Amino acid sequence: MNDRRQNIIQETEQFVQTKLETEGSGHDWWHIYRVVNNAKQIADTEAVDQWIVEMAALLHDVIDDKVTHDVESSRVELLTWLKDQHISYQQIDDIFAIIDTISFKHGYKTLPSREAEVVQDADRLDAIGAIGIARSFTYAGSKGHLIHQPDASPRANMTADEYRNETNTAINHFYEKLLTLKEKMNTAEGYRMAEKRHQFMETYLEQFYAEWDGKA
Ligand code: ADP
Ligand code: NI
Repeated sequence: MNDRRQNIIQETEQFVQTKLETEGSGHDWWHIYRVVNNAKQIADTEAVDQWIVEMAALLHDVIDDKVTHDVESSRVELLTWLKDQHISYQQIDDIFAIIDTISFKHGYKTLPSREAEVVQDADRLDAIGAIGIARSFTYAGSKGHLIHQPDASPRANMTADEYRNETNTAINHFYEKLLTLKEKMNTAEGYRMAEKRHQFMETYLEQFYAEWDGKA
C-alpha cells in the first residue's frame, strides 16, 4: 500500500474514533478494530483491493441507524469527508456500496463486490466465538433481558410482547442468530475462522447448561 493510501487509512481511523466516542450499543471503536483485523486476515487470502476492504471495514458502522440519529446527514458528512481526502469518485462509490449492503438487518442476498463479502464475513465473525458471547450478554444486559429462561412458555393472559420479552434472552440469541452465522460465510478463510468460533460456542453452551442444572 503506498504512503498516500496508508495516510488516508490513518485519517479514517481518527475520523471513526471521534464518531464512535460516545457509542454504547456494541459498535464501539474496539468492534471496528476487531472487524478491521478480521477483514485484513481474510483479504490476504482473496484477490481483492485490500485498501477498499480496510476502508469499508473502518467505516462500516458510522452511518448505521444504530450509531447515528440522522442517517441522511451522516451520509452527507461522510461523503464530504471522503471527497476532502481526495479519494476518487469510483472508490467512494465502492466504499458506500459496501457499507450500504453488509448489515445483518438488511439481509441483502447479493452483495456488490467480493470486497463487500470479505467485510461482511469480518463483521459476522465479531458476533460469534468468545467475543460474540461477550457481546450477546452485554446487549442482553443493556436491554434488561435475562441470560436464560429454560421454561418460557406462553401463559394465559400473556400479551405477545410479554412472551417475546421472556424468550428474548442472551442464550436464545445464540439460536436465533449466532449459531446460524457459520453457514452464511462468503469466503473460505472466513468459514475457517467461523468454524473455530462456532465450535467454541458449542462447548460454551454445553458447559453453561451443565452448570445451570448443577451438574458441573
Ligand atoms: P450487527 O448489525 O453488528 O450484528 P446488532 O446491533 O444486531 O449489530 O448487534 C450488536 C451485538 O449485539 C451483536 O454481537 C449481536 O449478536 C448482539 N445482539 C443483537 N441482538 C441481540 C439480542 N436480542 N440478544 C442478545 N444479543 C444481541
Ligand atoms: Ni459492525
